[in-house]
Amino acid sequence: MEATETAVTTSADSELITSLPSSFRWGVATASYQIEGAVTEDGRSPSIWDTFSRVPGAIDNGDNGDVACDHYHRMPADVELIRQLDVDTYRFSVAWPRIQPHGRGPVNEAGMAFYDRLVDELLAKGIDPWLTLYHWDLPQELEDAGGWPERDTAFRFADYSMLVFDRLKDRVRHWTTLNEPWCSAMHGYVHGIMAPGRRDLGAGAAAVHHLLLGHGLAMQRMREAAPEGTDFGITLNMGTADPETDSDADRDAARRADGMGVRIYTDTLINGHYPEDVVEDLAAQGVRIPVQDGDLATISSPLDFLGVNYYFGQQYSGAGEGPDVEDKAVPFGRPVTAMGWEILPEKFTELLVRLSKDYPGLPMYITENGSAFEDVPDESGYVNDSDRTGYLSSHIAAVAAARQAGADVRGYFAWSLLDNFEWAYGYAKRFGLIRVDYETQERTIKRSGLWYRDTIRQVRNS
Ligand code: FCB
Repeated sequence: MEATETAVTTSADSELITSLPSSFRWGVATASYQIEGAVTEDGRSPSIWDTFSRVPGAIDNGDNGDVACDHYHRMPADVELIRQLDVDTYRFSVAWPRIQPHGRGPVNEAGMAFYDRLVDELLAKGIDPWLTLYHWDLPQELEDAGGWPERDTAFRFADYSMLVFDRLKDRVRHWTTLNEPWCSAMHGYVHGIMAPGRRDLGAGAAAVHHLLLGHGLAMQRMREAAPEGTDFGITLNMGTADPETDSDADRDAARRADGMGVRIYTDTLINGHYPEDVVEDLAAQGVRIPVQDGDLATISSPLDFLGVNYYFGQQYSGAGEGPDVEDKAVPFGRPVTAMGWEILPEKFTELLVRLSKDYPGLPMYITENGSAFEDVPDESGYVNDSDRTGYLSSHIAAVAAARQAGADVRGYFAWSLLDNFEWAYGYAKRFGLIRVDYETQERTIKRSGLWYRDTIRQVRNS
């Protein structure tokens, strides 16, 4: 660390962090569409994000993922950077339209070969691959056929998953079916701010169900064919939902936010039923979740782990505008990141402890946590990001605090390895531990990346 750099970790946080066991799993995370580029290469077909990013006004600055971090061409060098961070795990996602262009049919060998090489490259460098099957890049043809609101998409997902599984199951031990089904269903089909950009609550509720069904179908089929020691899970984005005051209206708004944001997924996946209050809230808006016989048993097939993505918590007021409970979120008045997300590490602890109490016996991994800030590189490209380093430090300490309170959290993966295509925000928001100069594609490890590396080493050796 350079002499001019100020300390970012409080001694209380540093004590918590060093209380983590040496066996704790450390990683970095990315997603296919956000980093790969090469969207027309080796037989890849368009995904809903290729289409959505062409819609005028959908993405800041009219950005798209055509080139992104050019990772498809720079993969070995990027794996070398992962090694330099000294993490033991790399969480990445596979692009469905590379494996099964147009969403159906046999494996596209040229697309599959990329992930085959990636897995080999990781293993050769002693990095454990943690594979996510779906991080939002649905083949466009499947959206044209109805997308996630259509039941058949769940079966298409299971078929696709088996193509990837059959090829990589000899080398990949950790499989995540879906990343953040809440974002796919709500931002994609209800709020219209992510691909495919629809605005229909009924479609959103059907999407939730078919995403969960797809998860269950895929997991059952993969498990039947799995070598011993293979773990399966799902990643959910979750936060806390507090009432702004103790009034009935505020408490009800918080309950609804938690119902649609957390319990509609966790209760169904873990306990095998949709929460009654959520079903009633939806019914009051004329919406029914399209459950068929046997679906809930499939959806609640046992998980080996729960992936938790945490960025912030929210509080809710019953007095807000609009029918959507998201409209009723009111700030706590705390400092925010460049996304406008409030920095609330104590809510992270609260969430993890709550999950461990409500759903006991399920190991958790933090599959994403991180922050965007307005980075200012020096002439060499180095970013002295004390803000991001501070975020990282306080949130890893929050995980350690949750463990001390009994939450079974076994690993932490920072979002993200690289600055990348941040969905509707395009390249304007930077989450990387490593800076990407999009003009030259040059990578430079930021201060946060160096701090992360040193912290991992310290915990491992303590
Ligand atoms: C999560 C997404 C991830 C990234 C972060 C900032 O919701 O899973 O791809 O965009 O937010």
